[in-house]
Amino acid sequence: MIANPARLILHRCDELARITDEPGRLTRTFASLAMRRANALVGVWMRGAGMKTRVDAIGNLIGHYPGTEPGSKILLLGSHLDTVCNAGKFDGPLGVILAIACVEKLHRQKVRLPFAIEVIGFADEEGVRYQTAYLGSKALAGCFDGSDLRRKDTAGISMADAIKCFGGKPAKLKSARLNPKYLLGYLEVHIEQGPVLVRKNLAVGVVTAIAGQSRFEISFTGHAGHAGTVPMGLRRDALCAAAEFIVAAEKFACKTDRLVATVGQVCAEPGASNVIPGEVRLTLDVRHQLDSARRAGCAMLHKLARQIARARKVKVDWRPVQQTASVSCSPQLSRRLKRAVNKYQSKVAVLSSGAGHDATVMARITPTAMLFVRCKGGVSHHPDESVSCPDVRVTFEVMNGFLRQLAEDYA
Ligand code: HGY
Ligand code: MN
Ligand code: MN
Repeated sequence: MIANPARLILHRCDELARITDEPGRLTRTFASLAMRRANALVGVWMRGAGMKTRVDAIGNLIGHYPGTEPGSKILLLGSHLDTVCNAGKFDGPLGVILAIACVEKLHRQKVRLPFAIEVIGFADEEGVRYQTAYLGSKALAGCFDGSDLRRKDTAGISMADAIKCFGGKPAKLKSARLNPKYLLGYLEVHIEQGPVLVRKNLAVGVVTAIAGQSRFEISFTGHAGHAGTVPMGLRRDALCAAAEFIVAAEKFACKTDRLVATVGQVCAEPGASNVIPGEVRLTLDVRHQLDSARRAGCAMLHKLARQIARARKVKVDWRPVQQTASVSCSPQLSRRLKRAVNKYQSKVAVLSSGAGHDATVMARITPTAMLFVRCKGGVSHHPDESVSCPDVRVTFEVMNGFLRQLAEDYA
């Protein structure tokens, strides 16, 4: 019997966080060497929990724990193993490691449930390497966009070549699709990445809906020139145009209820201190709980970009990279989750998610629910991301309670 499973879960999050593409900070991106090492380590934990493991055509790591009957339906658990740049240890991995711990408990007690369990470590949720998020879950849900295989990363490596080099099969991504007929549902445990549970002083909360998101690649093209000789009035400075747009986008989002807009990456060319930037490429991430409000916000931001470009006599290219609709979680699965939470927590908090999750995509093929875990200060996408041992313990008990209940209802 593991004395304190929460301690082991946190220890494993620490151990996994040491596997990174960038020494000195945690960055683990799609199909990288670090992702291969992460799959290897998490695969050992899965097999130690009595699961058979496989890696699918795009690089998702999947552990299978059989049910009492061959051919039983499958309950999917898990989250993503990739991270953002300079990430925290828990965004993604906590959900995978917690799910393994729940299966490990069943395995140690020699308990099989009337359904199988598959724990998934998704290959790419953040979309850091190729800008398109949810590559792993899209392959499982059968909605992977084949044209993304031609996308190139900053080193000029195509997604198809990266998958091949990782040991995946870009030509066989359709084989990764899960058959919804055999699925019971998908439950993802994830840190909240926001302030609500901290404010309510609760360890866990049940997610009602996940905000949709739009991602764009934008470029402003002016005219490079000599920083010392071109008079200010004759410049077509691409970086000043981009800067004006970035501030305008912030101002617009601040005055638009519940809209968030973020420019996370900016690249100025040719990138010398004594050359007026001729071209600037930037990314834009726009989110809202309502798809209509998100779409209207994107249209307004595109109009602002065109107005600024025209006034500054520069060109603007606006390329959508990804549009993900908002999703509501399954009421049935969430009801069960609330019952399980009720056993371990005085109040059941329900909250929506501003962050995107693989659950957004998995909801296309099976009933989906999410359980949020309080994270210190609501901080995430930052090395200071942290969760407490007692909260992980509550989450672990809620998950086990959920599995027991589902088994009783299902038997
Ligand atoms: O960007 C997000 O919301 C998530 O962390 N991928
Ligand atoms: Mn995440
Ligand atoms: Mn994230």
